[in-house]
Amino acid sequence: MLNELLKRPVIPVIVIEDANDAEPLAEALLKGGMDVIEVTCRTAAAPEALARIKKSFPGMLLGAGTVVTPDQAKMCIDTGVSFGLAPGLNPDTVKFFQDHSTLFIPGVMTPSEIEKGLSLGLKMLKFFPAGAAGGVNMLKNLAAPYGPLGVKFCPTGGVNLDNMQEWLSQPVVSAIGGSWLATKQQIADKQWDVITDQVKAALAKAAELAD
Ligand code: 3PG
Repeated sequence: MLNELLKRPVIPVIVIEDANDAEPLAEALLKGGMDVIEVTCRTAAAPEALARIKKSFPGMLLGAGTVVTPDQAKMCIDTGVSFGLAPGLNPDTVKFFQDHSTLFIPGVMTPSEIEKGLSLGLKMLKFFPAGAAGGVNMLKNLAAPYGPLGVKFCPTGGVNLDNMQEWLSQPVVSAIGGSWLATKQQIADKQWDVITDQVKAALAKAAELAD
């Protein structure tokens, strides 16, 4: 699964309030060429939204974000998500996902947290909150000692269309995530075409770098 995720440089971070929006939202992303989604466990609608996307779009790489409680971790595994993420590194959650052979990407922002992740066998970590923690320069310096170990980072928090190329240009960055691709308000307002256009714009920028 890590290899599959590494093929996707941009991950939409979704906050969904109404599970009825799950399918049209997934469709809007797919229409823009994006077949990965992170639905955050921040709303009451998240479990149903995850289940609906899993059922209607089995080919999509379905992730759950903000997995911070044991109940949320269990819900993710029961739903059959392809991967989970969290803002911080909770060894119990890491172990729970590992026990269920499911990719989990915890958040870090210090050397000690990176080393904790490495000691748990993790190869991909989320750098959160990327912008507020010091931006690209911070990650560059933070990750430098661990370069030879091959650990990769997914920065989220303050990443947007304007700075995504700067982030993705870093060799330690394998993907970026952001809520700007489909904001809570745009989802509530059912602005599916706007979301599709935003996705296309982001993928075009990512493709420029790959060229
Ligand atoms: C996350 O959960 O990864 C972040 O809250 C997303 O941050 P953003 O809203 O700044 O994109």
